[in-house]
Amino acid sequence: MTISTTRPTHNLSAAELETLDRRHLIHPHQRSQRTFRRVMVRGERSTVWDATGRELLDLLGGGIWVAQVGHGRRELAEAASRQMSELAHYTGFFEFANDKTVLLADRLASLAPDDFNRVFFTCGGSEGVDTAIKVARLFHHHRGQPDRNWILARHYGYHGATYGSGTATGIPDMQHAVGPNLPHIEKLMPPYPYRKEFYGGQDPTDFLLAELEQTITRIGPENIAAMIGEPILGGGGVVIPPEDYWPRVRQLLSTHGILLIADEVITAFGRTGAWFDSARAACGRTSWSRPRESPAGTCRSVPCSCGRRSRRS
Ligand SMILES: Cc1ncc(COP(=O)(O)O)c(C=O)c1O
Repeated sequence: MTISTTRPTHNLSAAELETLDRRHLIHPHQRSQRTFRRVMVRGERSTVWDATGRELLDLLGGGIWVAQVGHGRRELAEAASRQMSELAHYTGFFEFANDKTVLLADRLASLAPDDFNRVFFTCGGSEGVDTAIKVARLFHHHRGQPDRNWILARHYGYHGATYGSGTATGIPDMQHAVGPNLPHIEKLMPPYPYRKEFYGGQDPTDFLLAELEQTITRIGPENIAAMIGEPILGGGGVVIPPEDYWPRVRQLLSTHGILLIADEVITAFGRTGAWFDSARAACGRTSWSRPRESPAGTCRSVPCSCGRRSRRS
């Protein structure tokens, strides 16, 4: 059920909102020379309206794959309202928790591939990615391998707007003028089937596996904590990899004790038909019965995201 024709709680015109935006709002990934603005004011299901009254089809769920169940969902608004009248917030620091995070963690653990049953909540995808990088390093540290701190990432990958996730991102414009970036991140090519010229006439997966193997040898497997990737390249173009890519990557990483961080910020929670696409993409099946390494995954939901790690980590 959607909330019918809600109206914004102000009487500002589109021009006034755009002026206020230009004056006060900093947009991620927006160059200051670009002055055009489009201010959204309302949504119902997959339709949104901007401040000029123009009706648009929201193909990207809030512009960035977040509102995948649609706008104006009354049951979500009511659940949030109920919660706010019960308990506004309670931290998870130290020994504290609140009942809803405990119950949600339990539910996510039941939906996640078999061995993944620990949840760490964050407030967004970028923070989830930063956390996954920390968790991967911590994992090796606790196993007596503190030198394993390199992270392999991919060109064209998008992982977020914070310092760590921004460095793992493979879109150079987004790192412009904020260097030096987080050290010990190495970029590899992703599968991009529309650009066969990237792979010098070879099969893309063969090419990429050879590149991965050479990179592991050059850095030294004993120095590498994890590889991070989106099961389906999102911000870099929404590109589905060849079927054999993730299973072969995962196999090679496993051989060297390198973790796989599945950045599921825009693929989890049913967007690709599975609760977590990495289970399908990395293993070629819908559930992991026995993962050999411990991918930390991130997922974005409303309103939190989480990093997951295996019971064994
Ligand atoms: C794959 C991926 N990872 C991380 C992020 C960052 O999430 P957030 O914008 O919530 O920080 C995004 C954002 O779209 C994303 O597509």
